[in-house]
Amino acid sequence: MRPDVVVMVGLPGSGKSTWVAAHLARTHAVVSKDHWPNARGREARQRRVLHELLGRGRDVVVDNTNPSPRERAPIIEIARRHGATVRAVFVDVPPEVCLQRNAARTGRARVPEAGMLHARKRLVPPAVNEGFDRVDVIRFESVRADISG
Ligand SMILES: Nc1ncnc2c1ncn2[C@@H]1O[C@H](COP(=O)(O)OP(=O)(O)O)[C@@H](O)[C@H]1O
Ligand SMILES: [Mg+2]
Repeated sequence: MRPDVVVMVGLPGSGKSTWVAAHLARTHAVVSKDHWPNARGREARQRRVLHELLGRGRDVVVDNTNPSPRERAPIIEIARRHGATVRAVFVDVPPEVCLQRNAARTGRARVPEAGMLHARKRLVPPAVNEGFDRVDVIRFESVRADISG
């Protein structure tokens, strides 16, 4: 069977990791630059890890903000090289909500305000014409219902 690659897209605090834990953690290997916050060349490392996991036939979810086509293109390219299906899951939550949730975090988990604004400026909703087989949008309201129900 073709491996499956899921590219998460969403601002910090939008609920990507929570959604991944609830929906994909049992079936997909989770790749995230957050796993090695200090390493240099995290981008290259992430690509290498993705390549290796797909080489072993694993399904993979890439859990980063992945805000624009520039970050997403290399992931799509690697997925295609492995004959994988690749879909985007856009967690579409209002920036103000993400800011609030981020402010409630402590320590390293909290993204500096400048980083929040930067991500917001760069965010381009994923589109099928980038090369995705599918784009799913998880809206704020449904995410809520999902978690509480
Ligand atoms: N559906 C939700 N409803 C309310 N709060 C949520 C929901 N999903 C996540 N959160 C909270 O928002 C914060 C950010 O969630 P997280 O999954 O870490 O976001 P991300 O991975 O996109 O940065 C966490 O404190 C989490 O508990
Ligand atoms: Mg996260």
